[in-house]
Amino acid sequence: MKKVLIAPSILSADLLKLEEQVKAVAENGADFIHVDVMDGHFVPNLTFGPNMVAALKRITSLPLDVHLMIEHPEMVIEQYAKAGATYLTVHQEACTHLHRTIQAIKEQGMKAGVSLNPATSLSTVENVMEDIDLLLIMSVNPGFGGQSFIEQSFQKIARAREMILETGKDILLEVDGGINNETAEEVVEQGAQVLVAGSAIFGSNNPVQAMNELKEIASKGIN
Ligand code: DX5
Ligand code: ZN
Repeated sequence: MKKVLIAPSILSADLLKLEEQVKAVAENGADFIHVDVMDGHFVPNLTFGPNMVAALKRITSLPLDVHLMIEHPEMVIEQYAKAGATYLTVHQEACTHLHRTIQAIKEQGMKAGVSLNPATSLSTVENVMEDIDLLLIMSVNPGFGGQSFIEQSFQKIARAREMILETGKDILLEVDGGINNETAEEVVEQGAQVLVAGSAIFGSNNPVQAMNELKEIASKGIN
């Protein structure tokens, strides 16, 4: 497998020092900047919108990995394209017409991602695998940073990797939730390529050091 990509999640950053913290990780080894958009309905928490994506776009050239934890994501696709999102990931559980939503994301010039909650089967995305650029496996129930990794996710990651290999396409396998120095290596061993980490990076006194340590540990899982 290729190298591990790290996507620091600004959900756990200090909002009053956001520019400084994003620049620090972006200039010292981060691969994506992960933006958790929550609407207080799909998940019981409320965070940022497209204006945050536009603001980040002004301070970094890294790909912006936007994770929409919202109902009716199809209604805001254009706004996120205009804001400068690189990857736009929607939840399978929030999309009645997932295929159409994926096409709309790509028509707007973004890369399309689909995410699954821990309780959602991989079979629900079987029929759209050929259409996506990124598959995001949630290893916690979405809504908050700092939760513990759900162990059953390892198996799901391994199966997701097989499904991706079956397509023969270059689809990124991303894992989000509870990624830290204890879980990162095995997550990669099972096939994850992009690791989202919030509290493990921004919860540290030295986010850059924590990120690079995490990347080093995660890289041991490459096989
Ligand atoms: C959770 C979000 C995550 C969150 C992860 O709903 O999707 O991206 O930032 O936080 P940690 O890494 O602390 O589990
Ligand atoms: Zn996320």
